[in-house]
Amino acid sequence: MSKKAFIFDLDGVIVDTAKFHFIAWQRLAASLGINFTEKENEQLKGVSRVNSLKKILEWGNKEISPAIFQTKMDQKNEEYLELIKTLDVNDILPGVHDFLLELKELGQPIALGSASKNARPILEKLGIKDLFDVIVDGTDVTKAKPDPEVFLNACNHLGYTAIDSVVFEDSVAGVQAANTAGMISIGLGEQDILHEADEVFTHFTNMPQDYIKTLLNKKKQ
Ligand code: BG6
Ligand code: MG
Repeated sequence: MSKKAFIFDLDGVIVDTAKFHFIAWQRLAASLGINFTEKENEQLKGVSRVNSLKKILEWGNKEISPAIFQTKMDQKNEEYLELIKTLDVNDILPGVHDFLLELKELGQPIALGSASKNARPILEKLGIKDLFDVIVDGTDVTKAKPDPEVFLNACNHLGYTAIDSVVFEDSVAGVQAANTAGMISIGLGEQDILHEADEVFTHFTNMPQDYIKTLLNKKKQ
């Protein structure tokens, strides 16, 4: 059987943490007198912590000193960590666990490609860290999505080329990163939002039977 590198985003693909990032950012923004909605939050998905705060400040037309900027980033992360304190295996999104186990059974290489600096402890909480052959997260890269660095780094570590890699993403920035890298991009979420992806599903459970085999034969358009 042929092989491909299967690269997964974390937040919003493997685990339902996107809503906690949103709540934490919304509270943080409110502390700065800035209001933002779920629509704008879509633009923060996949975006690094530092770039997210920059965007929020831009939307609110606010400037803060570098020291306060750092304090606010720390504050957001503390809030977020509090919100995900009770995260466990039950928070893995539908179909993901089975999909990963099927890949393992088929001997396909698996990587994580996440912008989050909390990725490793989250995978540990979920009890699935050992399923990943390679983990690349926000602590390993210098350029944030939509830059393809995180995914290129992941496929290089697995020993694969970009054209033999498949990326699973819930964010516009992440889909763009995969496309820029020349990788097959599979969107998890709404077609309207993720229309740049090669294919979109609402959940892993909506993928057709034998979809892994389809992906193994698929070529980047
Ligand atoms: C991404 C999330 O996975 O990680 C973003 O989609 C988040 O919302 C980014 O800002 C950075 O995460 P963290 O955990 O390092 O603040
Ligand atoms: Mg995501």
